[in-house]
Amino acid sequence: DASDIEKGTYPHYMLKEIEEQPFVIRKIIQQYQDEDGNVTIDPSIVSEFNQADRLYIVAAGTSYHAGLVGKQYFEKLAQIPTEVHLASEFVYNIPLLSKKPLFIFISQSGETADSRAALVEVKKLGYKSVTITNVPDSTLSREADYTLLLHAGPEIAVASTKAYTAQIAVLAIVADVLRKSKGIEKDIDLAHELAIVANAMEEICDSKDEFETIASDYLSFARNAFFIGRTLDYAVCLEGALKLKEISYIQAEGFAGGELKHGPIALIEDGTPVIALATQENVNLNIRGNVKEVVARDAYSCIISMEGLEMSGDRFILPAVHELLTPLISVVPLQYISYYAALHRGCDVDKPRNLAKSVTVE
Ligand code: G6P
Repeated sequence: DASDIEKGTYPHYMLKEIEEQPFVIRKIIQQYQDEDGNVTIDPSIVSEFNQADRLYIVAAGTSYHAGLVGKQYFEKLAQIPTEVHLASEFVYNIPLLSKKPLFIFISQSGETADSRAALVEVKKLGYKSVTITNVPDSTLSREADYTLLLHAGPEIAVASTKAYTAQIAVLAIVADVLRKSKGIEKDIDLAHELAIVANAMEEICDSKDEFETIASDYLSFARNAFFIGRTLDYAVCLEGALKLKEISYIQAEGFAGGELKHGPIALIEDGTPVIALATQENVNLNIRGNVKEVVARDAYSCIISMEGLEMSGDRFILPAVHELLTPLISVVPLQYISYYAALHRGCDVDKPRNLAKSVTVE
């Protein structure tokens, strides 16, 4: 049960929370399904979205990374222009707003000080807000006009895992509900596609030994590590790099494949670990070109691709899911790799140094 906060037989909360992800996705499908099996949300929230001419997502840390994926969903599924802002920046530098903005706060805890401060500013300006959170009675939930819950169960490990995938799943549901409400035709049955994702996550969890091997092969003695991807894979790379730095203290960065040549490639040395995601058909050849460029400079590359896009030499092949939903599954190997890298390096996985689960003061 996802709401059981005991570690049970798991050595760490993080491992337990990684492996709860298939159940969380199924729980979200259940919670957001109508009697016909279609995804649905409160009609008053739908009408609030439909009055907006632009969405502003505001969040911090991992929740910000989920927001980057959410932007793609709102734009690609529901055709609503969307911006994503770091809460700590937004407070002191409010962007030029559209005529009818709607604000979406994403926060696992609902207590992050920077996000709360941003919401205070939004309310001062008289605008409406929706909070997407895991904690029903949290401050951000109480202060916003509307709340959408993650139903992920308590997340205890400081490094966020299941909340990230829950946020992405809920964002996909909201975007798809908006799409349908606007009569935009697209051949997607989201509840069904999310069920496929849950099964794929389970399959990936069954391969955790492989990720432990990758972690020891690539990261046991690494000083730094790069994650590269394009489009949605790039967003996931930012989260993969954050996970790794948070718990293993390896200096890790996520880069857009195409930007390597504009600077980051200067950092590549003999044996630099480069983990590449290749789940997007339209950039599959491009990202593989980027991998060749780093391998030519003696990087040690590890390609994680997806069924249908795989090529020889790929280190792990994810089960196929809908191309918009790949972040839900491609992040799982990265979570495991970070977990095992931290474990092998003797780090305190659940309580990394200098970090707090929820940063409630600025
Ligand atoms: C802290 C946590 C992160 C989290 C961030 C935002 O930095 O260590 O894991 O992503 O806060 O938290 P929130 O609760 O607002 O999602």
